[in-house]
Amino acid sequence: MIAASTSRHDGITAILAHPDFARLKRRIIDVTGLQYYDERDQVLADRIEQRCNQLNRPVAAYMADMLASAAGGEFSALVDDLTIGETYFFRYPEQFELLRQVVIPERLADQQGMRPLRIWSAGCASGAEPYSLAIVLADHFQPALANGRASILATDINRHALAQAHEGRFTDWELRTSGDDFKRRCFTRDGRHWVLRRHFRQSVSFEHQNLATDLAAFAQTNAGHFDIILCRNVMIYFSPALTRRLTRLFAQCLAPGGWLLVGHAEPYFEIANILSPVVAGGTMAYRKAGGMPDDAIALRPAEPQRRSPADDWVNPALHPEPELEIPVSTFVAPAVPAPSMTAPASTAPDAARSLDDDMARIRHLADAGNWSEAATAAEQGLKRHPLEPAAYYIYALIAEHGGSMAEAEDALGRAVYLDRSQAVVHYHLGRCQLRRGDRRAAQKSFDNAIRLLAPRPVDWTVPFGDGLTAGELRDLLQIHLEQMSR
Ligand SMILES: C[S@@+](CC[C@H](N)C(=O)[O-])C[C@H]1O[C@@H](n2cnc3c(N)ncnc32)[C@H](O)[C@@H]1O
Repeated sequence: MIAASTSRHDGITAILAHPDFARLKRRIIDVTGLQYYDERDQVLADRIEQRCNQLNRPVAAYMADMLASAAGGEFSALVDDLTIGETYFFRYPEQFELLRQVVIPERLADQQGMRPLRIWSAGCASGAEPYSLAIVLADHFQPALANGRASILATDINRHALAQAHEGRFTDWELRTSGDDFKRRCFTRDGRHWVLRRHFRQSVSFEHQNLATDLAAFAQTNAGHFDIILCRNVMIYFSPALTRRLTRLFAQCLAPGGWLLVGHAEPYFEIANILSPVVAGGTMAYRKAGGMPDDAIALRPAEPQRRSPADDWVNPALHPEPELEIPVSTFVAPAVPAPSMTAPASTAPDAARSLDDDMARIRHLADAGNWSEAATAAEQGLKRHPLEPAAYYIYALIAEHGGSMAEAEDALGRAVYLDRSQAVVHYHLGRCQLRRGDRRAAQKSFDNAIRLLAPRPVDWTVPFGDGLTAGELRDLLQIHLEQMSR
């Protein structure tokens, strides 16, 4: 036993010291997007060592093979071992309530039966997430969505997880918040496993897909296709740049007014610039512009006490285990904050640095899902920098996340008052005004943003836009203006 663990330790040390290790690590991150491993050499080396042991291959030869191989075969098996597939049925139950009470009814009303409902679970792991959706549809939206009137596409990079998902076979661990009645109603017992009943599986199809490399082509052929996308607890392992790129592509895949649901600790600012946060029922989702106006949607709060016969999805007595994911923002330095939007940034370096530090801290807290701390920090930021539009801007985005639209609008108005030249601030202000139903004010704000962007080239990075380019912001503004003219 001691000999085995000593030799494992030696193997890992040899991998870490090998000149190919850094290149292989880079390649794995580039291919999978898993920035998570950038600062986890030990874990990565451990997985490589395990693969070598299983295959009885010397580490040097194995790493050389992996560097030379195309992304299939053993490379794919290594990727399977590197992904984190933590999942369970009805994870974040409040999001399933939001889907049931607001999102799905809104999509059905918007489509008026003209086409099937299309849902995509991106990063579905072993299938608990798409199957939870299928159960919601079967329990609450029959017969409207019977006979192919709804489809759920579920994709993942992990082939092993997809094979399990396809079988619909789960352990107690993946059903750990579900009560016995629910299990018996939806599953049959097969030894240690629970097998999902066939009629819940019919609407779900599984496909292999690597979000880091395949999504651009997928978005081209599926533009405007999906009503709802779930990508939960996947982007937390990616870099902010990849998150931005994926959000743009998800937005491209969504139908006008379509919804994106993410996990609780996903990077917020990257997403909120592209899709509007909508707060309801104690949770939040993002929505693409262009569908039914927000004020026409029944944003009813979830009512946990009122349970319908089918609402045995989650047994309230079975509290979920603490989440295992470690958000990317806990080990990646927070995104470099955009420069202060006012001139004093360059003339008073110390003051500017402390503003930037404050902004970075707020972002860091928000990206890690610490919303109440982020809100407190944003308030303190305002007190410390009362003349900085950047402080009002970030305060507004945090308020928007909390559903305090009036506060958000007020803070954006102050940011504009202090500096009229930031297109992204006018854009966010217009979004708030539109939600309040003030179309004239919104039109003016969007026009201001368009005018400010006019001289800028398409690929110009918009200050404070978290990587958003002038071309992309123009497209987003156009969608809003078209929505208003309908
Ligand atoms: C923590 S699980 C989340 C599962 C489910 N969405 C949930 O929240 O319960 C993350 C999933 O993302 C998948 N994943 C990681 N990188 C991916 C990539 N580049 N493309 C597609 N899926 C990826 C992993 O294989 C894993 O199944």
